[in-house]
Amino acid sequence: MDSRTLIVIPTYNEREALPVVVQRLRAAQPDVHVLVVDDNSPDGTGELADRMAAEDANIRVLHREGKGGLGGAYIAGFKWGIAHGYEVLVEMDADCSHQPEELGRLLTAVEDGADLAIGSRYVPGGKTVNWPWHRQFLSRGGNTYTRAVLGTRIHDITAGYRAFRRSAIERIDLDSIESVGYCFQVDMGWRAELAGLKVVEVPITFVEREIGDSKMDRSIIVESMSRITRWGLTARAKTLSRKLAALGR
Ligand code: GDD
Ligand code: MN
Repeated sequence: MDSRTLIVIPTYNEREALPVVVQRLRAAQPDVHVLVVDDNSPDGTGELADRMAAEDANIRVLHREGKGGLGGAYIAGFKWGIAHGYEVLVEMDADCSHQPEELGRLLTAVEDGADLAIGSRYVPGGKTVNWPWHRQFLSRGGNTYTRAVLGTRIHDITAGYRAFRRSAIERIDLDSIESVGYCFQVDMGWRAELAGLKVVEVPITFVEREIGDSKMDRSIIVESMSRITRWGLTARAKTLSRKLAALGR
């Protein structure tokens, strides 16, 4: 892959982590372009990203006014990437939980025909390292609940290491997405499935961050639970009304 590929990295207070992930990424995939989407981080990540961009033509920075959620950051980054003609758009966390050395496998899956390649912890070969038990519990529980309620076939639908074919993002209307937080991941995965896109899970090793802190909070869990439940109920009501209509005929 080459400069038709854009790696979108959302940041909020990742001053120490960002240079590390970018350096590992440049070493692993020297030709890809990087877009940092910073939400006016109080710790100065945005200014640091600007300095990194001044020294490296393959790095760009999008500044947003304030902490607007992971979903909003990715929507802004994807729109920028599509406007700038990129063919593959990648999601990657700033904290090295998504190892840049594994990016090649996601890009190969897209080259081989996937519309969306998900770096998955929950398919054979995938794993997590140093993740606290409560996060594992939440993640496993969230995936099990989502599979039950939405009937998705994706095993790691909350995963945040992903490569989208440009056409896949164009099929999913970004303007119609309401998810603010990490729920964006489930939203995009489910919409991709509903649209009949080819979704492939590639095993990855998710490594818990050693630098900085997680931005996961209660509001992210509440949003995910309520949206996923609502989507599931709406889908069921539609199926039911279709069946009733068929009976009445
Ligand atoms: N711009 C912006 N705005 N970036 C954000 C925001 C925000 O409001 N919230 C989080 N981020 C950035 C972080 O700076 C980091 O680069 C990335 O999004 C992921 O945030 P973390 O706080 O490190 O997430 P996590 O490790 O708790 O959660 C991981 O697992 C989740 C569950 O599987 C991530 O991979 C999530 O994407 C995933 O859903
Ligand atoms: Mn993290």
